[in-house]
Amino acid sequence: MRVVSGIQPTGNLHLGNYLGAIRNWVAMQDSIGPGGECLFFLADLHAITVAIDPTELASNTIEMAAVLLACGIDPARAIVFNQARVPAHSELAWLLGGTARVGWLNRMTQWKDKAGKNREGAGIGLFTYPVLQAADVLVYQATHVPVGDDQKQHLELARDIAAKFNTDTGVEIFTLPEPFVSKAAPRIMSLRDGAAKMSKSDTSEMSRIQLTDSDDSIAQKFRKARTDAAPLPASMAELAARPEAKNLVTIYAALADTDAEAVLAQFAGQGFGAFKPALADLAVATLSPIRERMTRLLDDRAHVAAALEQGADRARALAAPTLLAAQRAMGLQV
Ligand code: TRP
Repeated sequence: MRVVSGIQPTGNLHLGNYLGAIRNWVAMQDSIGPGGECLFFLADLHAITVAIDPTELASNTIEMAAVLLACGIDPARAIVFNQARVPAHSELAWLLGGTARVGWLNRMTQWKDKAGKNREGAGIGLFTYPVLQAADVLVYQATHVPVGDDQKQHLELARDIAAKFNTDTGVEIFTLPEPFVSKAAPRIMSLRDGAAKMSKSDTSEMSRIQLTDSDDSIAQKFRKARTDAAPLPASMAELAARPEAKNLVTIYAALADTDAEAVLAQFAGQGFGAFKPALADLAVATLSPIRERMTRLLDDRAHVAAALEQGADRARALAAPTLLAAQRAMGLQV
């Protein structure tokens, strides 16, 4: 089992990122057996497919690494690095450029969303983004790729590229990776609008719990979270038309590592006056140790950078044989 996943180094990590992705990575790291390997990287090369501030990107990368470590990713057990420091990702992406079809990329919903009406004016990096993502996993012979729902299409594309490359060259170079969408990785919605995903780009700070929020601010955001006046019902089905209430129950269940029905069994009949403080306490209990570890790690950024560099060393060694095999299969190694 070889687990590979990436996350873009954006600032403002929030509860949705933690419950939806990072916590899942930690669980995979903790449960992988001997002989298995987890590689988790900061997708800085993907981050530059849109305009960025270089200083900000560099600090976001270190901060994001600190978040991963604070959340329980352990560089002694998982390989943690930033993508740009392992050139095999970019090199393989170029080799795959002859395999991926323009038609396939044109169908990518993320490309359509991000380019919008201005396709002619979009950077080509935004268009070939999924080819780099395919290289990210194929170069390590990934078997399992934990991703959110929104990245499933990119993973399907990686499989298509791998299969076509293997067929075209007549050599079984690449393992076909399986997307791994964890049931325990719920979609966390905004605290102000149950129809919108919790997002770092939401203009309202009250819409999200940030991993850097103080205990008071966490409690305040839950207290002010939008809800309705009805008490909690006994089943999730009854919350179908109450998206804000449903979201809070989902968050509680994720934090308590239980399912939503069990949460409702406990709180059925109670109002938000009782539920919100319980939820806030639970969130604080989870997030405050993470915040403290993060603060400590960021007091010594050089140490975090050194951990990334060690991870990159190990990643380079793991990537080399597959890159070489792909080069050989294409006549690039004489
Ligand atoms: N595109 C992913 C995202 O925005 C990040 C990513 C880059 C990734 N490369 C990857 C995820 C490889 C899984 C595997 O969330």
